[in-house]
Amino acid sequence: MGRVLSGIQPTGNLHLGNYLGAIKNWLTMQQLHECLYCIVDLHAITVFQNPAELLKSTRETAAAFIACGIDPKKSAIFNQSAVPEHSELAWILNCHTPLGWLNRMTQFKEKAGKHRENAVLGLYAYPVLMAADILIYKATHVPVGEDQKQHLELARDIAGAFNRAYGREFFPQPEPLILGEATRVMSLRDGTKKMSKSDPSDQSRIALTDDADAIANKFKKAKTDMEPGITYDEEKRPEVANLLRIFAALSGRPRAEIEKEFANSGFGQFKPALAELAITKLAPITAEMRRLMADPGYIDSVLRDGAERARAIATSHMNEVKDMVGMLRV
Ligand code: TRP
Repeated sequence: MGRVLSGIQPTGNLHLGNYLGAIKNWLTMQQLHECLYCIVDLHAITVFQNPAELLKSTRETAAAFIACGIDPKKSAIFNQSAVPEHSELAWILNCHTPLGWLNRMTQFKEKAGKHRENAVLGLYAYPVLMAADILIYKATHVPVGEDQKQHLELARDIAGAFNRAYGREFFPQPEPLILGEATRVMSLRDGTKKMSKSDPSDQSRIALTDDADAIANKFKKAKTDMEPGITYDEEKRPEVANLLRIFAALSGRPRAEIEKEFANSGFGQFKPALAELAITKLAPITAEMRRLMADPGYIDSVLRDGAERARAIATSHMNEVKDMVGMLRV
């Protein structure tokens, strides 16, 4: 049994990509590991967030976790800023991270854009805070999407640098877990772009708060192509491939089986079947999320309890780190 840690940003509408690509995989891990699921509000503010929105999104993300089936009694669900040891360890790790390592981070380059001089320090230090999220718990397994692999590699390097500096195998090397048929859920308008909360087109994503009509409508309008039949070809038919992966992931059936079933159908048959499946799977989640959002007191109690449990681990590791570094604890 290992310890799993993963994080998700509380930045608005969670969508099908978050569910199939992340949260659904987190469920299965609850049986095998001790799990910590962190809502990373400190990471979110590396890009300015409206305070009222951030607060709302934090609760909404917790509600989504619970509605999707993460059991708050088994797994610790908490927001990052409620466990100050994340920031505390991040500072110490900052002092062991060469700038050269950070300069290689592709996500920073993308997010900073052309005007790198104007990018904030927090955005640059983002991967070190992520390393601290993982290492403060000595997590052994980290479920992440493809796009976070480089950050996880860095966390491993930082763990090694710290261990070498103080001559002790203190932090274990966290292993990435890249799972599932649909870890890459793409936009419904462009099969080469990830489904994203920041896509200006609402039609591009299925939000976890969409009702049945919206879901049906979005799948009906989803981009496809002029080829006959339903076949899986990532290169030539990225949109159809995306819909097939979504179908497989939602139904829990192998993709090849879905392909066979619809090989001779048109989109007129395939799309309504997909919409119906999505509505059946998502409706209970949506309903539960609404119910939970109406009870913020309960959500806050889950987050408080999660933070307390996380903090018990974090403080004991932080004390050891302080002792290793030579910081006086009075
Ligand atoms: N950077 C991750 C993302 O954007 C979120 C994250 C923050 C995370 N801290 C983490 C993921 C720790 C895994 C482990 O998806």
